[in-house]
Amino acid sequence: MDLKTYIEKKRFPEAVYVTRPMMPTETDYYSYLSTIWQTLWLTNEAYWHQKFTEALKKYLNVPELVLFCNGTLALLIALKILDIKEGEVITTPFTFPATPHIICWNGLTPVFCDIQEGGYNLDPRKVEELITPRTKAIMPVHVYGIPCDVDAFSALSHKYALPIIYDSAHTFGCKYRGHSLCSYGDLSVLSFHATKLFTTAEGGALICHKPEQAKRAYYMKNFGIADEETVVGVGINGKMNELSSAFGFASLTKVDEEIKKRKEIYKLYCEGLKDCKGIQNVAEPKDCDWNYAYFPIEVDREKYGITRDILFKRLRECNVIARKYFYPLCNRIPYYAEREDIPKVPTPIAEKTAERILCLPMYGSLPYEHVIKICEMIKTFPEWCEE
Ligand SMILES: Cc1ncc(COP(=O)(O)O)c(C=O)c1O
Repeated sequence: MDLKTYIEKKRFPEAVYVTRPMMPTETDYYSYLSTIWQTLWLTNEAYWHQKFTEALKKYLNVPELVLFCNGTLALLIALKILDIKEGEVITTPFTFPATPHIICWNGLTPVFCDIQEGGYNLDPRKVEELITPRTKAIMPVHVYGIPCDVDAFSALSHKYALPIIYDSAHTFGCKYRGHSLCSYGDLSVLSFHATKLFTTAEGGALICHKPEQAKRAYYMKNFGIADEETVVGVGINGKMNELSSAFGFASLTKVDEEIKKRKEIYKLYCEGLKDCKGIQNVAEPKDCDWNYAYFPIEVDREKYGITRDILFKRLRECNVIARKYFYPLCNRIPYYAEREDIPKVPTPIAEKTAERILCLPMYGSLPYEHVIKICEMIKTFPEWCEE
């Protein structure tokens, strides 16, 4: 059998995407929508916005939570409420571009620092080496919901009086040492984008500890408007609407079940790939109730026989839509690579990881047979795929 025949034989008839959204039950959502039809309130922090905020606060057990129309605007406002006028923010290149972009939108300079050896998150020891009088904040990302070294970042925060803003876009439902992972740091931001474990189509939230910060964020996401006749500062429109809020409220009852299903899929992938030389999957993080939001693997070309990119291509040909989260690295995006004021810090571990990483399909309703078949494909591709 040649490669073409092999692929034709193995190919899924329909695309198997990297993720699929967790939807609320239609009956719940439609019944909630009827309230919107009755009240004719579509936005401006009305009934569902309030209900969803309270329910989320309770579910995540966090002191203050402000809803946003997406995670990016929540990140933008997180930095804004710290009132940093100029300087640098140290962050990771192994992230979605929104992380450094919002540093720029705030008129600040991102400084990219390497990630931990054998991990995916910003390395606090390397961060410390980059701290200068220009540093104004640190923005780590809990990549794939794996907790950053929160103790080390908290120590840095105290030692250098620097705020820690966690990009917690991947952490919904993760608990670290018994507390929601998004409750760590001075400020923390969730994303409810359609690709995330918990979604409102587009959406996000800012988590903070101080009521006055929540109040500022609240004003800022609503044009700076405090009441009908008072505008307290420059704001933006970052409000979550009623349709998304009701969607989120209706979905909340399904999250725990979704995580349980993903855990089974995680176990199945681990079992299916355990004897596959050169393919390494992520271990469950310690002291953590994880959310199994992603299933990243690393491809070691020497041991596996083909590169990550060839594997990616072959999977696509077989209708498996894996994704290279995160490639390219943010410090390799031309805008950042070419900006002369951004220090050119070597990030060898992030480079190596970005060349090897691949996220396989992961969602609660992914059929077990699909997982088994994808593992079989990955195991047998090197025999069939010339570079
Ligand atoms: C790490 C990370 N940060 C920020 C974002 C931006 O969130 P949103 O799409 O809700 O604006 C995303 C994903 O979308 C992300 O993966």
